[in-house]
Amino acid sequence: MTNKLKYFIGNWKMFGDFGSFKIINKINQFSYKSKKQTIKRKIILCVPSTLIHFFNQKLKSKFISLGVQNCHYHQGYGPFTGSVSALMLKKAGADYIILGHSENRFEGETNSLIKKKIISALKQKLNIIFCIGETLKEKNKGKTFTILRSQIRSSLSKKFNMNKIILAYEPVWSIGTNKIPRIDELKKNIEFIKTNFKKIFKTTKTPKVLYGGSVNAKNIKLFSSVPQIDGFLIGGASQSSKKFIDIIINYYK
Ligand code: PGA
Repeated sequence: MTNKLKYFIGNWKMFGDFGSFKIINKINQFSYKSKKQTIKRKIILCVPSTLIHFFNQKLKSKFISLGVQNCHYHQGYGPFTGSVSALMLKKAGADYIILGHSENRFEGETNSLIKKKIISALKQKLNIIFCIGETLKEKNKGKTFTILRSQIRSSLSKKFNMNKIILAYEPVWSIGTNKIPRIDELKKNIEFIKTNFKKIFKTTKTPKVLYGGSVNAKNIKLFSSVPQIDGFLIGGASQSSKKFIDIIINYYK
């Protein structure tokens, strides 16, 4: 088993209320109890913006990190009805933010809009989980690499503090579908993201790349055979403390 740092990140999406604190609390306790020196792992829960402040206040000792799932591109405050800025989320206690998720791309987010959001979030020193991935149609047309390259190139910039950015490879067709990529294909795509990132930004530093899409306690063991994967972005299964904790336990089994 690898001793490299692995991320287990929950994406609650539009689920959860104040009572969901018990899920956070259980995961936090698990994180505390299972903190062995031999295993390097980081647990982050990205919750709805309405809950971040409450969870943050209620967690007395924190053995996990908390984040949110999107923000408006505008920096600071402004006349944007119904929106929340990175500044406001930071003040509410967020340390991480998911940007570029395909569910938001479906709603019209473009690569250039996502770039503006990344700039705003970086300004607040938020850590970014930047999602990329191809649709089934793009995959079937053999366009996966082209899509991944253009998503990286158009939303990131050489000037960004790349230490604050984690990429999450989420094939759109695998999100919430119980379909996962073939392991050889996944390995190829993760490697492509890493080498291309270095090529595009002329850096020798390899970025962290997570996998996301229908990860569960049963299939996690398959993914542990791919050391190139730096962790997981977990949707549905992160809404249950048991399912989420089982994923982590099984990964290291
Ligand atoms: P899923 O979602 O685990 O429910 O497939 C992953 C995600 O949307 O980040």
